[in-house]
Amino acid sequence: MSDFETIIYEKRDGTAYITLNRPRALNAYNVKMRDELYEVLGAVRDDPDVLVTVLKGAGEKAFCAGADLTEFLTAPPPVFARQARFARDVWGLFLSIEKPFITALHGYVLGSGIEMALCCDIRLASDDARFGLPEPGLGIIPAAGGSQTLPRVIGQAAALDMLLSGRWLTAAEALRLRLVNRVMPRANLYAEAENLAGRIKAHQPLAVTCIKRAVTQGLDLPLAAGLEFEERLGRGLGK
Ligand code: COA
Repeated sequence: MSDFETIIYEKRDGTAYITLNRPRALNAYNVKMRDELYEVLGAVRDDPDVLVTVLKGAGEKAFCAGADLTEFLTAPPPVFARQARFARDVWGLFLSIEKPFITALHGYVLGSGIEMALCCDIRLASDDARFGLPEPGLGIIPAAGGSQTLPRVIGQAAALDMLLSGRWLTAAEALRLRLVNRVMPRANLYAEAENLAGRIKAHQPLAVTCIKRAVTQGLDLPLAAGLEFEERLGRGLGK
């Protein structure tokens, strides 16, 4: 358990739970949450007891309704520049962690909410989840890696459709596009995440790490180099 203001961080039996915890603002991502997420992600990376992490949102209505609009473009430029640098570090850190992340998505999943989900490896959604990228309507582009991670997950055409049109997706559409892995009733969402975490934890941690590394890093390689990378990782595991 932790003393963060915008996040609840818990650990049980090898699973870390990160809960975005500003339910009255639909878990909007603000500067404080960014700083706390950075800290918590560092803990997940460095703590040998953490084998798998579940990311979720507190409250009934939302996983995360995107960037906090009350802070949006209000900070003076030097602060903003510092924030932008730090923001990149958060997403860089998130994507560099070799332990698996599961995310459990419900309600509004907007803007940086989708981008956070895209930093995770397996996305579970409740059937009430709604996905959207309001950035173009605000005159900005995604700032948490979404322009790069979204097309890698759902493909160029579907990503451009979402990013340019600002069209929201239902959970069923998100499943059809493979933005999420599975959709279920809200009542089952956290139990399903728990189940999945249990299955992952039952495996050899080094094999789990190597599989995540092979898939995530291999995707950016030409096939021949990817096969060679797999071979190297396999040899490291004694296969
Ligand atoms: N930043 C800051 N506060 C936000 C927020 C955000 N992105 N999204 C919602 N909130 C706040 C609302 O201001 C409201 O606060 P209040 O109760 O003090 O008035 C509270 O969360 C509940 O939101 P509300 O708009 O009343 O809920 P709703 O169900 O009617 O609508 C949304 C939900 C998500 C459609 C609507 O809140 C919305 O469009 N939010 C902005 C989404 C957005 O553009 N995000 C930025 C992406 S880059």
